[in-house]
Amino acid sequence: MGKGRTWLYCPGNKPGKIVKAGVYGADGLVLDLEDSVAPAMKHEARNLVSAALMHHPLNGDVAVRINGLGTDWWEDDLRAVIQAGGSILRIPKIETVEDIRSILFLLKDVQKKMGFNSVRIELQVILETPRGVENAFSILDAGEGFIHALSFGAEDYCSALGIDRKGPEFVLDYPRSRIAAAASAAGIACLDTVWSDFSDEEGLKKDASRAKNLGFTGKSVIHPAQILSVNTIFSASSQQIQWAKKVLSIGDIHQGAVAVEGAMVDEPIFRRAKQILKQSEEELHA
Ligand code: COA
Ligand code: MG
Repeated sequence: MGKGRTWLYCPGNKPGKIVKAGVYGADGLVLDLEDSVAPAMKHEARNLVSAALMHHPLNGDVAVRINGLGTDWWEDDLRAVIQAGGSILRIPKIETVEDIRSILFLLKDVQKKMGFNSVRIELQVILETPRGVENAFSILDAGEGFIHALSFGAEDYCSALGIDRKGPEFVLDYPRSRIAAAASAAGIACLDTVWSDFSDEEGLKKDASRAKNLGFTGKSVIHPAQILSVNTIFSASSQQIQWAKKVLSIGDIHQGAVAVEGAMVDEPIFRRAKQILKQSEEELHA
């Protein structure tokens, strides 16, 4: 958990962008085979992403977003990524337990046929429909430990409900809260949806802060200009670090609740302070 504040999407059919994508300071890259690639380019993108995974040293963690289960492409995408040595798969539009079982079935079959059983594949599951959001907990339960992150996709969700994505800030609170709660219960990362308008920095910051305040651990971005703001929002702030150090300076909490600067500190607050310091240390070493 905690790994990856920013994940930069990069279209899988754009070699110029793929080779540069690692230098902008994102914690992870997502090479995309889904919505940023037109149907006529799917084959070419799959080959290019495979070649990038095999031959091009990309900085940081690299995920590949494959096409959704309802398409003609997803099975070949999954095979190609595993064969090229990819280890993080981002799966769009997961809605049910059966969906995740289909993914795991093919994944294990491909690994077995290739003799790759020991390579640990991490799944990042995107929930982007009302049904997917509702099933967040059962999907994680069915994931057999393969799911390392839940991700939220707002566009389909908003279309389904007729929500204006740029409406009041609260419009996505329900799906975000449910996804964040499910991810937290499973002890995995929780990555927010993209903010498409990359020239609107204020909008991005508000959107990212809202998600962070609802329990998200990071956010996907589509443009290098979005990385710094998102990294900052999802990092522990210097005030939080100072507060956490003060709380932990009381030693231990076994004697029960105590006062620190006029506020009560008890077991859950002590634990939160420990979490903040752990996160800030992880970020220092990222
Ligand atoms: N990954 C890597 N590099 C990127 C990038 C990305 N997602 N987005 C922009 N860049 C690079 C550009 O290549 C350019 O590099 P240069 O200065 O060396 O030429 C620089 O950043 C500035 O880019 P800019 O000219 O402002 O944008 P653009 O017109 O090249 O690209 C988009 C705009 C929206 C097409 C592009 O940001 C993009 O493809 N984003 C990802 C789309 C995606 O994957 N969507 C699916 C998930 S929702
Ligand atoms: Mg989507």
